[in-house]
Parts: sequence; C-alpha cells; structure tokens
Amino acid sequence: MTDTSTDTSPDQTDDPATPRPRERGRTVHGEPANAGHRVLAPDDAEVEAYLEQALHAPPPTREDGAPEGPDTVVILNFGSQFAQLIARRVREMNVYSELLPHDTPWSEVQRRNPKAVILTGSPSSVYDADAPRADPALWSGRIPVLGICYGLQLMAHELGGEVLPSPKREYGPTAVQVSDDHELFIGLEREQPVWMSHGDTIVRPPEGFRPTAQTDATPYAGLADPARNLYGIQFHPEVAHTPRGKDILRNFVVEIAGARPTWTPASLVDTTVAEVRERVGEGHVICALSGGVDSAVAATLVHRAIGEQLTCIYVDHGLMRKRESELLRATFAENLGMRLVMVDARDRFIRRLAGVEDPEEKRRIIGDEFIRVFEEEAAKLGQIDFLVQGTLYPDVIESTTAETKAAAKIKTHHNVGGLPADLRFSLIEPLRYLFKDEVRRVGVELGLPEAMVLRQPFPGPGLAIRIIGEVTAERLDTLREADWIVIDEIKAAGLYRSLWQSFAILTPVRSVGVMGDGRTYANVVAVRAVTSDDGMTADWARLPYEVLARISSRIVNEVPGVNRVVYDISSKPPATIEWE
Ligand code: XMP
Repeated sequence: MTDTSTDTSPDQTDDPATPRPRERGRTVHGEPANAGHRVLAPDDAEVEAYLEQALHAPPPTREDGAPEGPDTVVILNFGSQFAQLIARRVREMNVYSELLPHDTPWSEVQRRNPKAVILTGSPSSVYDADAPRADPALWSGRIPVLGICYGLQLMAHELGGEVLPSPKREYGPTAVQVSDDHELFIGLEREQPVWMSHGDTIVRPPEGFRPTAQTDATPYAGLADPARNLYGIQFHPEVAHTPRGKDILRNFVVEIAGARPTWTPASLVDTTVAEVRERVGEGHVICALSGGVDSAVAATLVHRAIGEQLTCIYVDHGLMRKRESELLRATFAENLGMRLVMVDARDRFIRRLAGVEDPEEKRRIIGDEFIRVFEEEAAKLGQIDFLVQGTLYPDVIESTTAETKAAAKIKTHHNVGGLPADLRFSLIEPLRYLFKDEVRRVGVELGLPEAMVLRQPFPGPGLAIRIIGEVTAERLDTLREADWIVIDEIKAAGLYRSLWQSFAILTPVRSVGVMGDGRTYANVVAVRAVTSDDGMTADWARLPYEVLARISSRIVNEVPGVNRVVYDISSKPPATIEWE
C-alpha cells in the first residue's frame, strides 16, 4: 500500500477563492491523514470515513451515549479472532454486550453493572511471559463468569489448577460429552458436535471445580464451580460449527446470570432519541449524508430526537450511482421532512480529478475536496454545536485495541482526506455501540426504505475508483449507465441480497466490434460480483449464464461507447474487490 498522504495538496492553489491556511492531509494528531484509525470503511459511500479518521475523537467515554437501561454482559477480549462474534451472539439474544480489553480494571467493569462476564479465547498460552491476564477481582464470584477456551484455561491456571501443552493440538470439529445435569447444558443432548481450537489443556482443575464436559482428548472440556459463579468451556460456542452454541450461551447469560432479554432495536431507538435530545438541548447539529447506511440511520435517529435543529449536508460529488441523489432527496427531505442542503459540487470534483490516474491520488483528492465543500457549507449555517457521525462499534473496538492497529494498516487505503485541527463541533455518534447488522435493523425500525438500509457496500470515492485511468464526466456517465444495468438485472434475478457487491468497472481497454453495418472501436466494461461475509475475503459469484447474458447484451445495446463485456472471476485474495 502506498502512503500517498502529503503535507499539502498539489491542487491546493487551484481554488484561490478558498484559501486554506491549515495543514491538509494531516490529522489533528499530526499523523498522515491516511494513517487514521478508521479501518472498517468498506461500507456504503461512507464519506464520514473522511471526517472520522481525522477527528480528534474522544476516547470512548462510556457514559456518553452508552445505553443506560438494558442488562449488560461484558466480554473481556484476550485477543480472540472470535471476540466480536461472541458480542454479537449475546446481542442476538437481545441482551446488550460490550467488548472490553482483557486488562480493563475491575472498577471499569463494575461501572457497567454487568449481569455476567465472558472471557474470550486467545492465541496465547497461559504460560507465555506476556500472556494476557485480567484483574483478579474477576474471580471474586460477585458476577457470573464464563471462560471460553483460553478464558477457561486462564481461570483454571489463576485459581490453582494445572494447564499443560497437550501433545496433540485439538483443532476442528469434535464430539463432546456434556453432563446432562449441568445448568449450562440444559435442553441439550449429551453428545454435542463442537468446534475446538487449543494447544494447551487443563490437566487438573482448581479446587471446587467439577468437570462438566469431556472429549476423547480433553477430560476437562467443561468446568464449573457454581458456588463461586465460575464456569468454563474449552470449545467455542460462538461459531457456527458448534450448532447448539447459542443455546449454551443463552443458558449462561439468561438462565444462570439472569440477564433480561430486553435489548431490541425499538428500545434502542427510544433510549438513543432520549439521550440525544438531552445532550443537544437547544443546540444546532449537522450531519454529512453520504447515501450509505450508517449516515442515513444516524441522521434519522438524531432527526427523530431534535427535528429542525438538525441540518444534513449532502455533497454531490458526481461520483455516485445513478439516481442516488434523487433517492436521498425523496427519503430525507420529502418523506422525513429533514432540513437537507444538497450541494452540487460535481464540477469542482471533476476539475480536480482532471488528468489524475493514480487511484490513491484520486482518493486523496476526493477526500480533500469533500472536506472543503463540507466546511464551506457548514460555515454558511452559522453557529453549529454538534456533528453527527455514523461511527460503528467495530470502529470503536479497532481504535482502542493495540493488537488491531497493525491490522488496521492494511485497510488505510480506504481512508482519505483529513479534517482541520480547529474543528469546533462536539461529536454525536448514535451508532457507536452497534454492529452493522444492528444498524440495519434500527434503520428498518425507523422506517427507512429497504433500498437504503439493505444496500450493498459502496466505496467512499465512489465510481472514481471504478473508472480505470482518468475520471471524466463522460466516462462517469458511461459507467453509471452500465452499473445501473448490472444492479437492475441482479435485482431482477433476485440475487441482490445474496451478493456482497455487484458492479461494473470501466476499463481503458478498447476493442473492435460490429454494430449494424459499422465497425466499432469502443470500451470494455468488466462486471464484478462477489460473495463475502465481511469484505476481507471474497469469492467471485457464480452468476447464472442467463443473467450474465442479459447484463452483457443490455450494456452493449444501451450504453454508448461500450461494445464488449467481460466477467471478473478473481477471488480476494489475491485480487481485491475493487479494481483500484
Ligand atoms: P477491496 O477493494 O479492498 O475492498 O477488496 C474491500 C471493501 O472496501 C470497499 N472499498 C472502499 N471503501 N473507500 C471506502 O469507503 C475506499 O477507498 C474503498 N476502497 C474499497 C470495497 O467496496 C469493498 O466493499
């Protein structure tokens, strides 16, 4: 990944009407803007990504915006790749959960008044010198604790049991025998298929613990000391390969710990609306609408709380898909009655992108210009006290855990731009505690149209990174039309929601063709459709030939300047989803 951030933009003097004394391309921390903490930007046209990663975002002070009411489960993360999955599983049973670093002081854990604590797995061994540990007050028995994998081993190790490297690493699907009289396994058959992944094994449980589950290789695949409220399992209940894992987690969270499953999208809307109203008071609030799910849901929530005190700004950079701006106007201004400023900045972006071929340079210019336009518009509104952002929980987690910082670097090419240091708004982040699928559910609850809430991800720099080479108004029109046909046919075939993304790419390749009696020499459009769970890996979608045939013939017939359509059959990795 090339870091293209520079102190000043080469185009900075292009626009003498808006002199910018500030240091652009740097975050308020003085880091290159592209090295920001926003790492999960793969979602719909998230222009907020530009804002967010540069902002001096306060550390997650939990009083600020944290839901007060619902029963909470704290998950202490020891570095497991499944940590977020555990948090989601708990939330799926309508119990609020928060993921915290393993070394969170007990006072901080208690402040959340959790009904239960879950300890995740870890790539470490309890014997490693730098093995992640937890505040020993955890074992006091005041709050029920469930250790998963490493979590259980740590519990055993710290309380006087013995954990040893096992001769054979147990990895993959395994059959476990669970004791039928144990609360954690109520309602389950004695033999359960589960997912194991551990090198160490418990050879002697601590005093007071009794075994509750075993496999051929692991005599203590489950341990419990109900008198001390301590429970553990060696296998992973959070993954799909443990089919009854959800029931085990529910038995712990709801039955053993007594958490009430009351945390629903509807309750969340009510709490958030009340909190925003109280925090904003008489203040004025702005929000950048991107066309993406996150900003749409965030704005709608805040609008429900404070109505006319919110003004949304939509910067039309001309890199959007067809009819995007109309959908936005219809939804927000007409249906919801929001104050919406739509800025037609298409010419400005096209002018700055003229002659630019390098994708990273495109991203940087778009981010930079976006901030300029946004600032200018915000300045026209007079006194502004708050800025709404669609920060999601994974962003918060990523930015607070050191281990993920290295991983974060991989994705920095998704971040562009940077906000000036003297930003004068406080942040409102109503989605700060939500995962993406929860945001979608809240959006549905708020009555946003499905076309807006259930859409495929779209990159912030929009169509600009799907035009290989220079972006011109004409090429944008060509791509927009081709892209529309792809989506139209995919939707008509009922495939839209089963795909992570589906779109067209305008290549600079030209090929010979025949049209009527004439010979053509026109562009090649590539079609890309992928399946993925999270955008990190992706496989090319096996689209039916008939669908591909219809897409191809419609593009060639309906889009001037295109005479050939090819289908991209590369997976990620080694390819990426986008072409630039
Ligand atoms: P790649 O191409 O890296 O994309 O496989 C993974 C996901 O990220 C999206 N993407 C972007 N999102 N700004 C964004 O906000 C960007 O510059 C950007 N580049 C890629 C991509 O659409 C996919 O969902």
